[in-house]
Amino acid sequence: MKVGLKTQILPASEAAVTAAARILAGGGLVAFPTETVYGLGADATNGAAVARLYAAKGRPRFNPLIAHVAEARGALALARFSDDARLLAGVFWPGPLTLVLPKAESCPVSDLATAGLDSIAVRVPDHTIARDLLKAFGKPVVAPSANQSGHVSPTLAEHVRADLAGRIDLIVDGGPASVGVESTIVSCLGAPTLLRPGGVPRDVIERVLGHPLVIADAPSDDAPLAPGMLASHYAPKSTLRLNAIDARPGEALLAFGTDAPHAPTTLNLSPSGDLIEAAANLFHHLRTLDAAGAAIAVMPIPDEGLGEAINDRLARAAAPRP
Ligand code: TXA
Ligand code: MG
Repeated sequence: MKVGLKTQILPASEAAVTAAARILAGGGLVAFPTETVYGLGADATNGAAVARLYAAKGRPRFNPLIAHVAEARGALALARFSDDARLLAGVFWPGPLTLVLPKAESCPVSDLATAGLDSIAVRVPDHTIARDLLKAFGKPVVAPSANQSGHVSPTLAEHVRADLAGRIDLIVDGGPASVGVESTIVSCLGAPTLLRPGGVPRDVIERVLGHPLVIADAPSDDAPLAPGMLASHYAPKSTLRLNAIDARPGEALLAFGTDAPHAPTTLNLSPSGDLIEAAANLFHHLRTLDAAGAAIAVMPIPDEGLGEAINDRLARAAAPRP
């Protein structure tokens, strides 16, 4: 990978959107804010741009990418929608839900972006800058989280800079991502199946469908179902100890709720015990404690609502490294 690109950082504005669309059209790489996490965008129809994106992230080639479009209408050209898929798109788009669907015959997205699969992951983000950029560009944009492969996802432009400066062309700074965990991924290739818990809680989706989601079997590292689900995907450098009731000497504490025990280094995901606030703070707090170089003790997080996505990311962050 060629390092040493000059990475421009622009505050979100009309001018930044115009510059970003021009860079995408030229096959370049642009990090931009979405409501979940920052994405690293490339022209989904340009195989060379997609290859550059994989290289910039240091991402294993078999990881397929999510195609982002400005409107649900734009997704119809990419994929075939079942009735359930139509229902979910109608309720949750724009928003933090990704649908995995059969790729349309005439889908213009490069095979490299879908890793040669005959399915495609699609989402309409709920973020003004992201949608303005998608509209200005006028074609689908593939965008994995804008971190180096294996690192935690970025929720601030500064996180993107720390991981990818010198490897991408532009970062559009739109402030903190409001949701803070990645989109929920539901496959609608057959009965709707939860591939990754995320920004839309599972029960909210199930209420709309009127029946439970199928829960995907844990994938093996050889045959990843959603390869972002590799066990140690969201890995800080520090070791994590989950469900901790206190911090041992030398450990920093990632706390949750009102009864946090005392530790010299503590960050609280949500002092009031609010899972939405906790999700928004998760990756930033992990990065901050990771930079402090300590081992991290993590208090238990309730496994309801967004807690399911938070616990999923924490379990991966704590998993042994490959
Ligand atoms: O919130 C998000 O979804 C963010 C923002 C930037 O939109 N994006 C994101 O992308 O999290 P990424 O690449 O980090 O995660 C995409 C996940 C991966 O786990 C990938 O394996 C899965 O989507 N995926 C993509 N296409 C798929 C397909 N056809 N079948 C199954 N899983 C797929
Ligand atoms: Mg990612």
